[in-house]
Amino acid sequence: MKDNYDLVVIGGGPGGYEAAIRGAQLGMSVACIEKRVHKGEPALGGTCLNVGCIPSKALLDSSHRFEATQHELADHGINTSDVNIDISKMLERKDAIVKQLTAGVAGLLKGNKVDWLQGWGTLEDGTGNDKKVTFTPLDGSEAKSITAKSVILAAGSVPIDIPVAKTDGEYIVDSTGALEFSEVPKRLGVIGAGVIGLELGSVWRRLGAEVVVYEAMPSFLAAADKDIAKESQKLLKKQGLDIRVDTKVNNAEVKDGQVVVTADKGGEISEETFDKLIVCVGRRAYSEKLLGENSGIQLTDRGLVDVDDQCKTNLDGVYAIGDLVRGPMLAHKAMEEGMMAVERIHGEKAQVNYDTIISVIYTAPEIAWVGLTEEQAIEQGHEVKTGSFGLAANGRALAQGEGNGLVKVVADAKTDRLLGMHMVGVGAGDIVHQGMIAMEFVSSIEDLQLMTFAHPTVSEAVHEAALSADGRAIHAIQRKKRK
Ligand code: FAD
Ligand code: NAI
Repeated sequence: MKDNYDLVVIGGGPGGYEAAIRGAQLGMSVACIEKRVHKGEPALGGTCLNVGCIPSKALLDSSHRFEATQHELADHGINTSDVNIDISKMLERKDAIVKQLTAGVAGLLKGNKVDWLQGWGTLEDGTGNDKKVTFTPLDGSEAKSITAKSVILAAGSVPIDIPVAKTDGEYIVDSTGALEFSEVPKRLGVIGAGVIGLELGSVWRRLGAEVVVYEAMPSFLAAADKDIAKESQKLLKKQGLDIRVDTKVNNAEVKDGQVVVTADKGGEISEETFDKLIVCVGRRAYSEKLLGENSGIQLTDRGLVDVDDQCKTNLDGVYAIGDLVRGPMLAHKAMEEGMMAVERIHGEKAQVNYDTIISVIYTAPEIAWVGLTEEQAIEQGHEVKTGSFGLAANGRALAQGEGNGLVKVVADAKTDRLLGMHMVGVGAGDIVHQGMIAMEFVSSIEDLQLMTFAHPTVSEAVHEAALSADGRAIHAIQRKKRK
C-alpha cells in the first residue's frame, strides 16, 4: 500500500469495486478498503456477492429445479419418482458460486492494479485537497493514515432489526441466516412480504416448508403496478405462500426450540409456532466506523449520506454511492452510481438515469418493472393509456408450461410516449429490459407496435401489450376503441 492515492474507495461491494476498477481504467492510483470476512476469509463483492443477490439466486435456482422435477415433468410424460434433495450439497453449490465470483473480483482488482486494503476505512477529514482516511487492518496490525485526492464512500447497508423480533442467528434470523438453514424448516415464518420475504420464502416453500408471511402494509407489493401486484399475489398464493397483509407482528420469542409469533390483524390477535423465523423488513445504510467525528460529511435524517443527483456529497471530491445513499437498494443502481462518481471525478459528464432503474423479484414467475406504474403516471398529471396482454395467449409461454402472468405498458395518451413497462411472467427480469431500452430512446407505443418481434417468443407479449394500448391486440378480444 501507498500513503497517498488519487482515489480511495471505502467498501468493496458492487458499487465500490466497480468504481475502483473504473478509476484504474481512467489512470488513477486506487485503493479499495473492504473489511468483510466471509466464511473465515477476507472477501470482496459486498452484500451482493456474499450474502445477497448471488447466493439467493443460487438457492432460487436449486429449489426451482427441485419443485419443477417433482411437479412439472409429469405433464411432459417424464416420470420421476423418489425425488429428494441434499441440502448440504445445495448449500455447497451456492458457496462455490460465491467463491468463484468473489475470487474473480479480487483478480480483477489485482489485474487493474487496485490495492485491496483488507480492513476498515474511516474518512477522518473530507475537506481540502488531501482527504484523510484511516485504514485499520483486519490482521490487528496498527492503523495507518492515508491521503487521497478523491474518496468514494460505498459502505452499503445492513438488515433492519425490529425490537419485537430480535434476531438470535439460530431461530430468528435475517436474510443472511436464511441462506444457511441446514435443513428445511417444517414451518417457516417470515416478517415482511418485500423482495427478500418473497424470494427466500419461495426458496424454502419449494423445498417443503409451510410458509407464512406477515406484512404490515394493507396492500401487497405496494411499489408495483396494482395489476401486476394483484396477479403476483394470486400466483404466489396458489403456490402455497400464505401471505397475510395488514398483519403486524407484536412479539416473537423462542420457547422450547420453536419460535412463537403473536400477530395482530385489525385487532384480532393470533399466535403461531414456527421452526424458524426470517426478519426481512428492509435494510438501513451502514455508516458505523465509516465517518470520523470531523469527516465533515452530512447525513440525512434517515442516516443516509446526503448526495446530489450525481452522488456528490456536501464536500468537493467526496462522493457516496449505492445502498448508503437515497434511491432503491439495488446492486445495478450501486454499480452505475460507482461509475458515474468516478467519471465525474475525472471531469466527465456521466449521469445515471434514475427513471429507468429496473426492479426484479426473482420468484417464479418473475415480477419486474421499469418506469412509472399506472397510478404514479396519473399522480404525475399524465393523461394515461395502458395496454396489457396475458401470457395465457402466448404460444411460447404455453409451450414452456408458463402461461401465467401478463405484460402491461403505461404511456402518455397525448404524446404516446412509453412511461413504464410491468410484467409478471416467465423471464420478466430479462424481458422488461426491452421497456428500459425503449424508454431510454424515448420510444412511443407506436414504435413498439411497428417493430417485428420473433415468433414464437414470450417477448411477443410486449408487442401485443403495446397493440392493446390502442385496442389492436390480435390474440385477445379488444374492447377498447381501435386506433
Ligand atoms: P454492499 O454490497 O453492501 O457493499 C458494501 C461493502 O462495504 C460491504 O462489503 C461492507 O463490508 C463494506 N464496508 C462497510 N463499511 C466499511 C468500512 N468502514 N470499511 C471498509 N469496508 C466497509 N440487489 C439486486 O439488484 N438484485 C438482487 O437480486 C438482489 N438480491 C439481494 C438479496 C439479498 C438476500 C440481499 C440482502 C440483498 C439483495 N440485493 C439485490 C441488494 C444488493 O445486494 C445491494 O443493493 C448491493 O449489494 C449494494 O451495493 P453496495 O456496493 O452499495 O453495498
Ligand atoms: P423491502 O423493503 O423489499 O420489504 C420489506 C417489507 O417489510 C415491506 O413490504 C414492509 O411493508 C414490510 N414491513 C416492514 N416492517 C414490518 C413489520 N414490522 N411487520 C411486517 N412487515 C413489515 O425489504 P427487504 O425485503 O428486507 O429487502 C431489503 C432490500 O434488499 C430491498 O430494498 C431490495 O431493494 C433489496 N433486495 C433486492 C432484491 C432484488 O432486487 N431482487 C432481492 C432482495 C433484496
